[in-house]
Amino acid sequence: MSNYHIKNLEEYFQVYRKSVRNPEVFWEEIAEEHFMWRKKWNRVLSWDFSKPEVKWFEGGQLNITENCIDRHLYTRGDKTAILFEPNNPDEEALHITYKQLHERVCRFANVLKEHGINKGDRVCIYLPMIPELAVSVLACARIGAIHSVVFAGFSAHALATRINDADCKMVITSDGSYRGAKTIDLKGIVDDALENCESVDTVLVVKRIDSDVTMKEGRDLWLQPLLDEAYVDFSPEVMNAEDPLFILYTSGSTGQPKGMVHSTAGYMIYSAYTFKNVFQYKENDVYWCTADIGWITGHSYIVYGPLANGATTVMFEGVPSYPDFGRFWEIVEKHKITQFYTAPTAIRALAKEGVEHLEKYDLSSLKVLGTVGEPINEEAWHWYDDNVGKKKAPIVDTWWQTETGGIMITPIPFSTPTKPTYATLPFPGIQPALMDENGEEIQGNQVDGRLCIKYPWPSMARTIWGNHQRYKDTYFTAFNQMYFTGDGALRDEVGYYRITGRVDDVIIVSGHNLGTAPIEDAINEHPAVAESAIVGFPHDIKGNALYGYVTLKDIGEGRKHDNVRNEINQIITEQIGPIAKLDKIQFTNGLPKTRSGKIMRRILRKIAHKDTDNLGDISTLLNPEVVQSIMDNAL
Ligand code: WTA
Repeated sequence: MSNYHIKNLEEYFQVYRKSVRNPEVFWEEIAEEHFMWRKKWNRVLSWDFSKPEVKWFEGGQLNITENCIDRHLYTRGDKTAILFEPNNPDEEALHITYKQLHERVCRFANVLKEHGINKGDRVCIYLPMIPELAVSVLACARIGAIHSVVFAGFSAHALATRINDADCKMVITSDGSYRGAKTIDLKGIVDDALENCESVDTVLVVKRIDSDVTMKEGRDLWLQPLLDEAYVDFSPEVMNAEDPLFILYTSGSTGQPKGMVHSTAGYMIYSAYTFKNVFQYKENDVYWCTADIGWITGHSYIVYGPLANGATTVMFEGVPSYPDFGRFWEIVEKHKITQFYTAPTAIRALAKEGVEHLEKYDLSSLKVLGTVGEPINEEAWHWYDDNVGKKKAPIVDTWWQTETGGIMITPIPFSTPTKPTYATLPFPGIQPALMDENGEEIQGNQVDGRLCIKYPWPSMARTIWGNHQRYKDTYFTAFNQMYFTGDGALRDEVGYYRITGRVDDVIIVSGHNLGTAPIEDAINEHPAVAESAIVGFPHDIKGNALYGYVTLKDIGEGRKHDNVRNEINQIITEQIGPIAKLDKIQFTNGLPKTRSGKIMRRILRKIAHKDTDNLGDISTLLNPEVVQSIMDNAL
């Protein structure tokens, strides 16, 4: 039996048991049989969650791009590696074969080298979903530079914060991007960001929308002429297994975004192994994940996981609503998509538009449907199952995180019986635990608690860039000797897991994690604001939307509250990006606080949820009187 490809439920249980009983043997076999190494490791795993320190395949050497590209050249050189579907349906799709991808990545790697980028340097990539995004990621990996992709919907301020945190030497961007009928001036955003970034020497600019941009002398260069001149081959840098591959920022409940650091070998093995099994990828399949490469889903399941398996992976530049709400299904039909992986928020948005958009297209190529990013509600699950999969394509509800690098709890399609809203069973190698408030593990089934992971897996983030203490505090202190996910979960009578949502101050809006603290900081910059608190409330499409309680100092003579509302959202857009805008802003005379001055978000959350029958004991508050007035004026 091959551990690498799980084909039925019995095999899953066998493989799972082996992965838990003897994790090192288990992972060693997979690493040995399915990947290309320059040098074998001395030790499979060493770990200590109290430091925390985790090392996989120490002493091993490799380059991930050899695994994702070079080793396929003989067997699949002319197979499409990346299938690019442009924003505009009238523009032709682009099939980039493995051979062509190799050449593109090598040329790009040479350009990076010629512009002073070396192993270990950080490169910020701020690009739309165009082939250069995947190519630049791989080019960094080929030379051993650490890529830090920033989603191209973030504002200049958010971009600058991330560039500075990682001390990036270079930014790769484009003149602009297409987004449905709109264009976005990405280069302008980069220019604004770089006003505040001293570390960046070079900006490489891809021409995508042919707009007029200002090129700063001595700093900005058009990419294409450099690629045209560059040599077509590049011998990959030999990396140590534990060398960092990339940094990717995710929101925390407090403070700055956290630069999660992923290592080379463990990440490669886990993203590849999960891809193969969770999507049951077969040689001629055409796999499409609709995420952006700016998020972890795109890193692991558009770029690295699929390419490590020699798959054809689709990159879509546009949005589901352009030119109309049938776009996704048009693409499914056009490219005969076999695996389709998206987020619940997209499913809900499309469901709302009605099935007539689907009925025009032939979706019979679909074999597996995936969902990720937030809990999927029952209605959306059934809509997806009935209308997209026609009850024939199993839904894999995949639970995981930026920090976990790969899918952790998921059905294996055609093996694990699915159950709506349940992510079902842990993937091989993953040992979940549910914990109670006292830090004890909850045994048995039909229980709920805080979701932790008891044992290391290869693709776990190794640290937070520049702040190992924060890594320890955030993930390894709440529960002894365990990784704490920040999520709540329940386990049903057969041991299936259902993720119930965040138990910290991270709010997931349209699948994007948002920390409350940075949004509150942004609001508090408004001169009329005294203080503010953000909570989530249920939203039909976004899953959660943001509700802000804002106490004003004085808005000034003759000014309107609505203006202040708009200005607050404007500041949030500038500081973070439009994804963090508030749906509701309630002005209050004060915020409920404990005697030690902490804002009682629990109460604010209940008011936003319109669930005020049982607010609990508020008499211990510093200012219980504000609660009634907030309730009376709730939106
Ligand atoms: C949530 C995305 C329920 C969860 C890969 C997690 C989910 C956070 C699911 C991580 C799911 C992700 N069901 N909740 N299938 N998948 N989540 O870092 O709260 O963007 O902690 O990684 O999304 O979001 P992130």
